[in-house]
Amino acid sequence: MDSNHDKVFVTTFLGVIGFLVALTVVIVVIANMITGDEDSEELRQIAYERTQSRIAPVGEVITDPNAIKVSASSGESDAEPRSGEEIVQGLCSGCHAAGVAGAPKLDDTTEWSSRLDALGRDGLVTSVINGKGAMPPKAGDPSLSEAEIEAAVDAMLKQAGV
Ligand code: HEC
Repeated sequence: MDSNHDKVFVTTFLGVIGFLVALTVVIVVIANMITGDEDSEELRQIAYERTQSRIAPVGEVITDPNAIKVSASSGESDAEPRSGEEIVQGLCSGCHAAGVAGAPKLDDTTEWSSRLDALGRDGLVTSVINGKGAMPPKAGDPSLSEAEIEAAVDAMLKQAGV
């Protein structure tokens, strides 16, 4: 009776173990079939490119003088003079649009007229070049040429309707 009971247990136990082993093998085979495709050459290429772009250096030293000239002309130190309107838009309006620190407002015709009458156009240009009150010399942008400042003053006076 007892030994029969043990036999039944061992048989059942081995049966369950065998079934689980077989199931594991089946799962491994299926998993390999599914993931086999993803290991394709194409995906390996994409993974390679991603890795390359992640570890690529952030900058590059340019030693070709021609290349430097090209990149400089598209940057801040533009060889092309900026138009007066551009400068007023990008720089001067920072203070003159809202009248920061007593800057005459762009649309204050009366204020601009009296300043123009007092100093003349050249006097106003000189004020911008040397700075005046809260306005730093060259309005804080030393890269501005005299011609660009003149153009900016002209554009400003025009905008003010003077
Ligand atoms: C940091 C603020 C600021 C910026 C930027 C600025 N200005 Fe001014 N500007 C002032 C202030 C403040 C005054 C008034 C100065 C005073 O009369 O005491 C002024 C006055 C002037 C005057 C009158 C000067 C005079 O003698 O009456 C002119 C012209 C002028 N700005 C032109 C410009 C131009 C052109 C630019 C851009 C290239 C510019 N400003 C950018 C603050 C600024």
